[in-house]
This record gives sequence, C-alpha cells and structure tokens, in this order.
Amino acid sequence: MEIKRIGVIGAGQMGSGIAQVAAAAGYAVVLMDMAPEQLEKGMAIIRKNLGRQVEKGRMAEEEKETILGRIQTTHELEVAATEADLVIEAVVENMEVKTGIFRQLDSLCPSHAILASNTSSLPITEIAAATKRPEKVIGMHFMNPVPVMKLVEVIRGLATADAVFQTVKELAIRMGKEPVEVNDFPGFVSNRVLMPMINEAIYAVYEGVATPEAVDQVMKLGMNHPMGPLTLADFIGLDTCLYIMETLYEGFGDSKYRPCPLLRKYVKAGWLGRKSGRGFYVYE
Ligand code: NAI
Repeated sequence: MEIKRIGVIGAGQMGSGIAQVAAAAGYAVVLMDMAPEQLEKGMAIIRKNLGRQVEKGRMAEEEKETILGRIQTTHELEVAATEADLVIEAVVENMEVKTGIFRQLDSLCPSHAILASNTSSLPITEIAAATKRPEKVIGMHFMNPVPVMKLVEVIRGLATADAVFQTVKELAIRMGKEPVEVNDFPGFVSNRVLMPMINEAIYAVYEGVATPEAVDQVMKLGMNHPMGPLTLADFIGLDTCLYIMETLYEGFGDSKYRPCPLLRKYVKAGWLGRKSGRGFYVYE
C-alpha cells in the first residue's frame, strides 16, 4: 500500500506535531481542525519548530519552506478525507467524538484509505467497529512532543489486517520514529504503566504527603526521570490524563485505576496544565 497523502484531524499539541513530521518525511498533508484559531496556533508552532532547526544549522531555509508548503489547512473534514491514503485522527480523548469522526471518515475517504487514531488509551477495536472497514483501522500513538520523541506505539485492533500494520510500521520508520507493536488493551503499554504513576503522584499531593515540587524532585533526583510526574502531567494536559485514567478504570474495573479526586477538581476548574496556563504549576 503506497501512502502519498495524509489527512491529520485535530491541530492541537499532537496533531500539529504529527503534521510536521509527516510533511518533513515528504508526504502531502492536509491538517484539519474545527477551530480556526487552533489551525493558526498549530501552524505557528510548526513554523517555530522548523525555524529553530534552521537557526541551529540543521535545516536550510528553503527546506523549511518546502516542508511548510506540503501542509494545507482546512476546517472541513471532507477536504482532509477525500483524497487521503491515510488519515491520522488526533482530536480530544473522547470515544463519542472519535467514533463520530471515524464514521464520517469511513464514508468520505477512498476505500483503500487507512484510518489511524492517535488515541492514548481508547480501544482501537471499538473505534474500528464504528466503520465498515475495521481491517483498515489501527492505533498510531505518537508521544509528546512529536518531533522530538522517538516512539510510536502501533496498536493492532482485533480486526487490523497484517498489510495495514506493515504499512503503518514502515510509515512510522520513514517519519524517523521507532514503531513498537502492541495489542489492544486499555492504555496499551505506555499509559497503562505511566498514568497510574502520575495518578499516584497526584494522590501524594492530595493527601498532603508532599508539595508538587517535592514530588517532582523526588522522582527526578531519586529515580533519574528527566521530568517529574506532575510536570509531565501538566505537559500532557490534565484533561487527557483524566480521560486516560477513566478509560483504565472502566476498562479493567479495578479500583487501583480510580482517578484522584484532585485531578477531577483541577479539570473541572479548567486547570488543564501548560495548554491552559495553569495546572500543578502556573505558566506564563
Ligand atoms: P489538544 O486539546 O491539544 O487538541 C485537540 C484538538 O482537536 C483541538 O485543536 C480541537 O479543536 C480539535 N477537535 C476537537 N474535536 C474536534 C472535531 N470533532 N473535529 C475536528 N477537530 C476537533 O489535545 P492533544 O493533546 O493534541 O491530544 C489529542 C489526542 O492525542 C488525544 O486523543 C490524546 O489522548 C492523544 N495524545 C495526547 C498526548 C499528549 O501528551 N497530550 C500524547 C499522545 C496522544
């Protein structure tokens, strides 16, 4: 299966990063978001990231312009879908929203097109069941920030075809990433291991064991983590962290995955971390 044109749905933190690496790997990209200001913000981030590469002498100015020229933006799903060989969805971590988009993509995309989700934790099999092409639905879970992080967790749904898996694996390699194959269980591997640690760190703050700064310092200095779990949670987005914990809690039915009440409270307050200016820390 040859991929030439990629639609990216959602121009937030992840979608803009995915559009950047796809364009840098030579693909024609159509980046779609329903919010025009998100499209503008996403493109501004891509421009800034590439500009930094030019400043560091790692990329020529013309190359930057060529990459930017490969990205078209739109607020219409149809424009991103009609000629796509592959669509990567990166909208909010919510099953209803995602299945709604996959249903539409299924009817708008060419029959050969692969539909991938960047979901952090939602079952690929369930997303696939919303379409009439479950064999062409797959998880392509990039890490944040996409241009920097090497890993792509490639998640096989129950019905994902081997040829589709191979195509996506090769695509990830062409984007300069290292694909790792995992099966479809809540949270896959990355967030099944990471998110309970973040949730526990939030419990430590909630129960007054330590301040956010102290929790982060313990994990950085003591466990050699490059970033403390609460700094990381702010970076990921506290809404996304909560959605993932809820998916684990619901998917396994085990109380060990119960989201910390403090996490719920922050999300209800609109303290979503870095992207909203406040989470466990305050940002400019
Ligand atoms: P974000 O909040 O930065 O961006 C989401 C974007 O989706 C927004 O621009 C929003 O306007 C757009 N959107 C929402 N509903 C839409 C719709 N119906 N049609 C078109 N656009 C729509 O979120 P972020 O962080 O980029 O996350 C996106 C996905 O990637 C989620 O599934 C998340 O779980 C996953 N993910 C997030 C990571 C992170 O560290 N933040 C890491 C890996 C995966």
